[in-house]
Amino acid sequence: MRIDLVDQDHYADSGPPHEQLRWLRENDPVHRHEGEPAFWAVTRYDDVVHVSRHSELFSSHRKLALFDEMPEEQRALQRLMMLNQDPPEHTRRRSLVNRGFTPRTIGALEQHIREICDDLLDKCAGEADFVTDVAAPLPLYVICELLGAPVSDRDKLFNWSNRMIGAQDPDYAPASEDEGDPAMEVYAYANQLAALRRENPRDDIVTKLIQPDDNGETLTESEFDLFVLLLVVAGNETTRNAASGGMLALFDHPDQWDRLVADPSLARTAADEIVRWVSPVNLFRRTATRDVVLGGKQIKEDDKVVVFYSSANRDTSVFPDAEVFDIGRDPNPQIGFGGGGAHFCLGNHLAKLELRVLFEQLARRYPRLRRTGEARRLRSNFINGIKELPVVLR
Ligand code: HEM
Repeated sequence: MRIDLVDQDHYADSGPPHEQLRWLRENDPVHRHEGEPAFWAVTRYDDVVHVSRHSELFSSHRKLALFDEMPEEQRALQRLMMLNQDPPEHTRRRSLVNRGFTPRTIGALEQHIREICDDLLDKCAGEADFVTDVAAPLPLYVICELLGAPVSDRDKLFNWSNRMIGAQDPDYAPASEDEGDPAMEVYAYANQLAALRRENPRDDIVTKLIQPDDNGETLTESEFDLFVLLLVVAGNETTRNAASGGMLALFDHPDQWDRLVADPSLARTAADEIVRWVSPVNLFRRTATRDVVLGGKQIKEDDKVVVFYSSANRDTSVFPDAEVFDIGRDPNPQIGFGGGGAHFCLGNHLAKLELRVLFEQLARRYPRLRRTGEARRLRSNFINGIKELPVVLR
């Protein structure tokens, strides 16, 4: 079988190459992908978990994205982000920000999220684009709420986040050469937000994060700004694509949509199944810190090791009926938020809450929701994304 796991055109046409990934899981689970870039593709669930949990062997810091070419300035900024660090450097920062993302703090947002959802769904009754009108604004408005950012700043943040993540897709290219670096703009914006809260503390996450924790430890000013930048990148596009990918899956499986309409409380288990099925983050890159054997293959120090969540989430040794989209699946040990270990998604409770509330409201309010055209996919092998999904909400 011809294997090309990074071909952007394939992703733009039909999403992750599931057929090739299945073949690899069964025949060559730790596969040497030759070419540019060369890397090891890790496709089985257990191996993805192993790599994720052994940061001493598979580093997040040594090298960065799958494709390493990026301007030096951007690389330097990336290295400072928690996502691209290893313990013990990572541990201190992660424990400081964990305070803002406990299940209790996030649970307290449910009412706000419900109101945001209701408001969005009111506005787009009738013909709409599910991505632009529902899936994209929801996570962004939730992050603005989380940060206490004024409603009037939402469009600005939306534009920055699109430009940062969709970098591989020409549709998201800057409108003119004069547009500045969106990362630097978010960074500066975070700085202003923190200054406001220092002057006027409130009962919100920003205030909590800029204050010392119980041990007197605090995030420095630049650590805080970088963290906000990471939230805007990591919390937006992922949830947007989980929501639109979930909607598409429900259109493709009308029996599951009917089930949800009959019992909207199934939205709780549906949220996990959507993350498993869609795997909005297709892959993540690590770098071997020394020579190591994985799945019988000899990996050399500095080799790129890429874990494919989209593949692990369809591994039949963990999900016997992996090819079935079942919104009632329980238990569901999906690893769309990462395979555990230090970097396990900080926003997983928040993302699941957003998905649960959204699909519950959709099923209650628009039981005759229909697709009116084809979905257009994002041209990216990193984010499994959808750019357009025309619908009619009834
Ligand atoms: C990390 C997926 C939503 C914040 C990650 C990782 C994945 C992921 C795969 C890396 C795990 C690893 O390397 O082991 C997702 C998916 C989401 C989602 C699929 C939506 C369905 C969110 C949201 C937020 C968020 C809503 C915050 C508002 C983060 C942060 C990290 C992260 C800060 C880095 C954690 C660290 O380095 O310690 N996410 N994410 N994510 N995510 Fe999410």
